[in-house]
Amino acid sequence: MGLYILVGAQWGDEGKGKVVDYLAPEMDYIVRFQGGANAGHTVTRGKQVFRFHLLPSGCLHPSVTSVIAPGVVVDLHQLLRELDNLQGLGVSRPRLLISPRVHLVMPYHLLQDELEEKRRGKSSIGTTKRGIGPCYADRAARNGIRLDDLAQPDHFRNRLRYILEEKNTLFTHLYGAEPLDADSVADDLLRAFERVKPYLAETTTILRDALAKRKKVLFEGAQGVLLDLENGTYPYVTSSHTLAASVTLSTGISIQRADRILGVSKAYLTRVGAGPFPTEIQEQVLNAHIREVGGEYGATTGRPRRVGWLDLPLLRYAATVSDFHSLAITKMDVLQDLPEVRVCVAYRHQRKTLEFPPEDLALLSEMKPIYETFKSWISFSRAKAYGDLPLNARRYLRFIEKETSVPISLVSYSPEPEHTFRRHSD
Ligand code: IMP
Repeated sequence: MGLYILVGAQWGDEGKGKVVDYLAPEMDYIVRFQGGANAGHTVTRGKQVFRFHLLPSGCLHPSVTSVIAPGVVVDLHQLLRELDNLQGLGVSRPRLLISPRVHLVMPYHLLQDELEEKRRGKSSIGTTKRGIGPCYADRAARNGIRLDDLAQPDHFRNRLRYILEEKNTLFTHLYGAEPLDADSVADDLLRAFERVKPYLAETTTILRDALAKRKKVLFEGAQGVLLDLENGTYPYVTSSHTLAASVTLSTGISIQRADRILGVSKAYLTRVGAGPFPTEIQEQVLNAHIREVGGEYGATTGRPRRVGWLDLPLLRYAATVSDFHSLAITKMDVLQDLPEVRVCVAYRHQRKTLEFPPEDLALLSEMKPIYETFKSWISFSRAKAYGDLPLNARRYLRFIEKETSVPISLVSYSPEPEHTFRRHSD
């Protein structure tokens, strides 16, 4: 086989885009399999910074075929904006395949996400307002609209009218908002559909055939394990499954024979939006320092991210539920030159010491972190191999490996592609 899976080991924003970009030249296919434009994968080329929300991060590599698999929810206008951006870079017809079975994030999903967050008031989740929750909810309720519905305009218009009857009742009666007009929504989407038509393909069959021919396929996760709908910090989660196993459910391709499952983790931890965060740094100056040095602002919403120390109980959990073969540790540079670096090794809860989080992650808010303190490392900028890292940085990484029982196979220390390197021979 040649089946590789890369997923976020935290609450998203681990630097997955950069790692995918590093691995891309070795791959034949790179596949987005879940989530939607809530993701923001950043790839840097010198002074140019690219933010992919829907397109796989491999799109800048001409030898790679990018795939948007059925489990992704697609906002057609966002997709067209990203295709236009690529065109601006001289890529007029990227090697892109989109499953006709993807569900569409409709204008009423965007509106509903925004209005419902407002209605939640103090209990808001802090969503990206990209319509993700309402779209996946409609998919589960069998009220979704898939891309191939647009291939039959009359059927699409009828279905839209039926769905809008319910949505408009909600908008006008519950939220006090204006109703949407079915015809103008339909006209607009049918126009957009014309531009994506050339990319439609039976992606599952193509990927199965490619794997049978020993092509290399990388499945690129969005968000992170702790935002998984079922296994994350519910209700402060996204509405898709972000675990490695989601590849099977979202694409129809079994991961039983995956060659590698790579978990990506920052050297520290961040979270954007609400929800428990035991290792959040309360000391404002340090918190702000890490945020600024690490550029910790949401790639999709621009919101400042909450910043904390690496949480090993949560990393052990992520490694267990996604069965990581190895870890990629990113942003090692951000912790350099600090007075000290802390790592949460366990929690204290009701006089017990827990090395693994409680089964109900909602209880995370009651956990008191137990820290181990490390010396920070001197700044470095030319490391090309593990041995080039400052001694204290290597000590830190070795500790993470020992505590999680997962080898670190990749290290990265700046947005530049040349500042990512492999550790082992995988
Ligand atoms: P939603 O996915 O927009 O519904 O947002 C639900 C939660 O997931 C919120 O806390 C978001 O901030 C968070 N979230 C969604 N996508 C990402 C991401 O790509 N990175 C980090 N957090 C995310």
